[in-house]
Amino acid sequence: MAVTAQTLIYGVIGDPVAQARSPLIFNPMFERLGHDGVMVAFHITPGALPRAIAGFRAIESLKGWLVTVPHKVQMFHLCDQVGDSGTRLQAVNAVRRAADGQLIGDNYDGLGFVAGLRGDGIEPRDLDVLMLGAGGAARAIAFSLAEAGVRRLVIANRTRANAEALAAATRGHFPSVAVEVADARAAGHDLIVNTTSAGLKPDDPLPLDPTALAPPTIVADIIMKPETTRLLALARERGCRVHFGRHMLDSQIPLLARHLGVPGT
Ligand code: ATR
Repeated sequence: MAVTAQTLIYGVIGDPVAQARSPLIFNPMFERLGHDGVMVAFHITPGALPRAIAGFRAIESLKGWLVTVPHKVQMFHLCDQVGDSGTRLQAVNAVRRAADGQLIGDNYDGLGFVAGLRGDGIEPRDLDVLMLGAGGAARAIAFSLAEAGVRRLVIANRTRANAEALAAATRGHFPSVAVEVADARAAGHDLIVNTTSAGLKPDDPLPLDPTALAPPTIVADIIMKPETTRLLALARERGCRVHFGRHMLDSQIPLLARHLGVPGT
């Protein structure tokens, strides 16, 4: 499909942004849907973000944009309306520009993880979950797992104070979910989720001692490269079902497309 003067524009903003994969996913999607749109990357530094967004508001043919590091929090403050998930996280990863120029944001990181579980046949409701890590991704996942109605969420993190802070925030938003902080122990959970960066490199330490891993515990990682992290390989060797990092992204794509207002999504 040729880019013409009628083509609607979508963006992905970041600093750096050259590594962003969204254009490689969304442009073929537009083609498949027969949607006359194009997604391009905008490299915007943090200091220039308010000016760039003020300009974006004025562009009628710019329909929305995805937000990557480091802009998710600053972009939250530049939106006119933000959905529940983005409001809880005080960070957005998708923004739609409404017809009147209003900017409507939300965050789909955690919702993507939960949708990915469900797409893989794993219903989080009533599960006992051990989450490893307490960073930005963990925060999004903790809130979405709590929203999905897990029975118990145990948070284990290298720096315990970060786990305590995340546990308190999760309890604050979802008082009915039992949230605890503990050391990472493999035994006795329905689902274990690694949200730490341990596993990106082959010589990284394991985020959990795998010796006590056993079915029916399911082990999930949000790391996408390598697809089979050492943790997942060891879990599989012990007979556990594994859930890959790509599910979180794959399942987030339709949610992002709908937020951007892509017709037919
Ligand atoms: P992201 O936004 O991708 O979640 P982050 O906010 O930097 O990244 O969070 C990284 C998480 O991985 C944190 O929970 C971090 O633990 P600390 O709070 O102690 O920093 C965890 N992490 C990073 N490297 C780790 C390692 N080698 N072993 C265990 N945990 C690690």
